[in-house]
Amino acid sequence: MVNSFSAEVQRVVVLGTGGTIAGKAASSGDNIGYTAGQVGVADLLGGIDAPTGVTLVAEQVAQVDSKDMSFEIWRQLAQRCAHWLAQPDVAGVVITHGTDTLEETAFFLHSVLAAAKPVVLTCAMRPATALAPDGPQNVRDAISVAATKGAQGVTVVCAGTVHSAVDIQKTHTYRLDAFGSGDAGPLGYVEEGDVRLVRSWPEGGGSQASKPVGAGAVTWPRVEIVMSHAGASGAVIDALMSAAVLDPLRGLVLATTGNGTVHHALEEAALKAQAAGISVVRATRCMSGRILPKAGEQLRDAGALTPVKARIALMLELLGE
Ligand code: SIN
Repeated sequence: MVNSFSAEVQRVVVLGTGGTIAGKAASSGDNIGYTAGQVGVADLLGGIDAPTGVTLVAEQVAQVDSKDMSFEIWRQLAQRCAHWLAQPDVAGVVITHGTDTLEETAFFLHSVLAAAKPVVLTCAMRPATALAPDGPQNVRDAISVAATKGAQGVTVVCAGTVHSAVDIQKTHTYRLDAFGSGDAGPLGYVEEGDVRLVRSWPEGGGSQASKPVGAGAVTWPRVEIVMSHAGASGAVIDALMSAAVLDPLRGLVLATTGNGTVHHALEEAALKAQAAGISVVRATRCMSGRILPKAGEQLRDAGALTPVKARIALMLELLGE
């Protein structure tokens, strides 16, 4: 199915947050020794022709290397998306973002926005100063998705591929096509400005809406990820439980082996934490698949969510309590 653009003139709003896509290196041959988050989003749009009937609006929300993404930026981003999506002449929102935590921001926005219009995150693996930067084509493709009639929900566009926020994971450290959607596969492809869908647009986001998008201050519950591995112990959980230096621990995500299995020493500490009132969730550290529930499990599982996404889901759940 190839989707067409809507007939009326509409705006697509491009929100900048930084990342390699806005990165600068000292030489055009350097694709890794750059500083992320240097070029403003309005400048990233220079030289990009909008699709016919589409006007672009640029707004800088943040300017960070996405490894340093913060809850406060997430909150601002969710609020700016909600603001722009409510404008009748806005077809959709594009967000330029670093690749490193892109899947987390996408999943967060999916969780808090009931996006009946498209919110499309995009990125680059090469800085803006590269000999052959990948950012401009990715931005152009993301704009095409945001302007496509019938598009909705939070998606990610990279290297001509459209992924859903729920399924996407960064799978490569260096290649331009650095993302995958595991067993689910991509939603579709962008080909010369046309979107070819192979699955339906995502539905069902926004179930955790109110607090992060609302005006009041948010105290994010502290949820940590602890990995199970050969030779694991309960020491990290014990330390987290006793640490008085940070906000009190509210939740734990166990990054488990295989089908949700946990080293017995770590499991013992996790069960103690759970008995003490900490919310504990198991999420597999495998790249693909989901945890298939077994009878008698004492620690609940996060299904197909990766540990970083399970952490976001748990934080939002605790925030809603
Ligand atoms: C970042 O995530 O901000 C830097 C890395 C990248 O965008 O590829």
